[in-house]
Amino acid sequence: MTEVTRQAVLDKLSTIKGPDLEGDIVSRGLVSEIFIADGKVFFSITVPANRARELEPMRQAAEKAVKSIPGVSGAMVALTAERQGGGMGSSETSRPAPRAEPPPPRLQPQPQPAGKTGVPGVEAIIAVASGKGGVGKSTTAVNIALGLAGLGKKVGILDADIYGPSMPRLLGLKGKPETMDGKTLKPMEAFGVKVMSIGFLVEEETPMIWRGPMVMSALRQMLRDVAWGELDILVVDMPPGTGDAQLTMAQQVPLAGAVIVSTPQDLALIDARKGLNMFRRVDVPLLGIVENMSYFLAPDTGKRYDIFGHGGARTEAGRLGVPFLGEVPLTMDVRETSDAGTPVVASNPEGSQAKVYRAIAEKVAARLEEEGASASTPAIVFE
Ligand SMILES: Nc1ncnc2c1ncn2[C@@H]1O[C@H](COP(=O)(O)OP(=O)(O)OP(=O)(O)O)[C@@H](O)[C@H]1O
Ligand SMILES: [Mg+2]
Repeated sequence: MTEVTRQAVLDKLSTIKGPDLEGDIVSRGLVSEIFIADGKVFFSITVPANRARELEPMRQAAEKAVKSIPGVSGAMVALTAERQGGGMGSSETSRPAPRAEPPPPRLQPQPQPAGKTGVPGVEAIIAVASGKGGVGKSTTAVNIALGLAGLGKKVGILDADIYGPSMPRLLGLKGKPETMDGKTLKPMEAFGVKVMSIGFLVEEETPMIWRGPMVMSALRQMLRDVAWGELDILVVDMPPGTGDAQLTMAQQVPLAGAVIVSTPQDLALIDARKGLNMFRRVDVPLLGIVENMSYFLAPDTGKRYDIFGHGGARTEAGRLGVPFLGEVPLTMDVRETSDAGTPVVASNPEGSQAKVYRAIAEKVAARLEEEGASASTPAIVFE
C-alpha cells in the first residue's frame, strides 16, 4: 500500500478554493493539523461559524479530494468555527448575532397528549439523538447500551433510524427476527442486549420511500409489536435531525429522557441545540450531552490532539443548563470495532474508550434515577 504523507494531503488540498473562491484553503491557513493513521486522514477546516451550512460543499470537496489520493482509505473532515485571539465574542467572526441559525421547528402546541402509553414491561425508554447526521449517535447509543448492560441492567436497543438503520452492522446481526404468533416479533440479541431494527426487515440496499404516516406506524410497531420482555432501559437510536420520526418518538413515546450527541465544534452545536429544543418542547427530560470525536488519540503514540476544538460541548452544556455526560475521543478502535460488528465496550472492555462509555452509561443511569425521583415527588411549595 502507498504510504500517504501529509505533504501529499496538503498538495491535494491546495486545489480546494477557500470561501468566496478566494485563494485556496491551505494558503489561507484554514487547514488544521493533519493526522494520518492506517490510510485514514483526519483534519478540520476553520470557517466563520455563521457560514457553516453554506460552506458544507467546500468540506465535501476537500473530503472527496483527499479520498482520491492513492493509498487513502478514508477521510474525516470537520468544519470548525473560527475563533480569533482566544477571546469570546470579541472578533467579528465569532459574534453570535449574525448566526444563520434557523428558527426552532414549530411544533403544534400540544405538549403532552394523554395518549402516551408505555410499553408493558419496559421501565424506561431513552432517546439518543442529535441535531445533525454523522456525529456518532448510533455508535454512542450502542456503546451506552452495552455499558448499561454491564451495570447489570436489562437493556434493549431500538434502531429508530428508518431511513438508514445501523444496528445490524454495528452489532454484526444478520437474518430476520422470528415472529411469535404471526403478530409479535421476537427481538434479535447481541452481547446480551435485545435489538430491533427496520434493517432486519427490509434489505439494506432497497431504497425505501417513507412518508410521514408510514414512519409513524413502523416506529409504533417496532416499539409495541415486539416482545421486548422485561427491560430496565430501552435505548432508542434516533434518526438525525428534527423531522417526522423524531417528533413521533418525542410526542408519542413516553420517553424518560434524551441524550444529545454532538461533536465539539460550535457548528455542530447549533444543530445540537435544535435537538435539545425539540425535547424541551415536548417535556422530555434532557439527561445530558455527550461530546463525541472530542479529541484525537494518535494510534501510534497514544498522544492526544484537540483537532476539532475539543470542549465546545461541555461549555455549551453548561450554558444551556444541561448536564455534561462525557467526552469520547476519536479513535481508530471505535470506528473499526463498529464496522466489524463488535462495539468497543464489548470487544475491548478494558480499553480506555470502553471506560469512557461505561462512565457515560453510569451517569445516564444516575440521571434517570434523578429524573424518576423528581417526577414522582410532589412539589412542595413554601409560602
Ligand atoms: N469516537 C469515534 N471515533 C472514531 N470513529 C467514530 C467515533 N464515533 C463515530 N465514529 C464513526 O463515525 C461514523 C458515523 O458514526 P455513526 O453512524 O454512529 O453516526 P450517526 O450520528 O448515527 O450517523 P447518522 O446520522 O447517519 O445516523 C461511523 O463510521 C463511526 O464508526
Ligand atoms: Mg445513526
